[in-house]
Amino acid sequence: MIHAAFGAFEPPSGVLKETVADLAARQRDGLVLVAQDGERFIGSLFCARQSDALYLTRLATAPDWRKRGVGRALIVAAVSEARASGVTRLTLRVRKNLPGNRAYFERFGFAVTGEGQDPGRPPYDSMERRLG
Ligand SMILES: CC(C)(COP(=O)(O)OP(=O)(O)OC[C@H]1O[C@@H](n2cnc3c(N)ncnc32)[C@H](O)[C@@H]1OP(=O)(O)O)[C@@H](O)C(=O)NCCC(=O)NCCS
Repeated sequence: MIHAAFGAFEPPSGVLKETVADLAARQRDGLVLVAQDGERFIGSLFCARQSDALYLTRLATAPDWRKRGVGRALIVAAVSEARASGVTRLTLRVRKNLPGNRAYFERFGFAVTGEGQDPGRPPYDSMERRLG
C-alpha cells in the first residue's frame, strides 16, 4: 500500500526500497499509525520522537481511498499521540517540487520553517505545527 501511494514520485521516493524489516524497525523505534478498511490497509503515517517534536514521515493513503478523510484521520491521531506524550511540535518535510503537499499540510496548521537538501535527493521544505 505504501509503495503504491508513493509510486508516482519523481525522482522516486526512498520508501520504494524499504522492506517489511524496515517497517518493523520503524515500529520498534517509533510509532506506525495505520488506517484500515476491514483487514485491508488503506493509510499509514510514521511518527518518530525527535527531542520536543514528533517527526512525521510517509503519510500515505491508498489511491482509491483519497480525498475521503483518511489522511486527516491519521494527522488527527498523530496530534493526539503528540499531546499524550508531552510533545510540543509536529515536524515534517515536503518536497519542493510537490507544492500541493505543502498546501495540504498548511490546511492542517503546518507552516514552513526552513528548507534543505540531502546529497543526491530533491530539495525540501521543513514544516512544523506547534501544539497549543
Ligand atoms: C497526501 C495524501 C496523504 C492525502 O491523503 P487523503 O486521505 O486523500 O487526504 P484527506 O482526504 O484527509 O484530505 C483532507 C483535505 O485535504 C484535501 N486534499 C487532499 N489531497 C490534497 C492535495 N494533494 N492538495 C491539497 N488538498 C488536498 C481534501 O480535499 C480534504 O479537504 P476537505 O477537508 O475540504 O474535504 C494522499 O494524497 C497521498 O497518499 N499522496 C501520495 C503520498 C504523499 O504525497 N504523501 C505526503 C508526503 S509529504
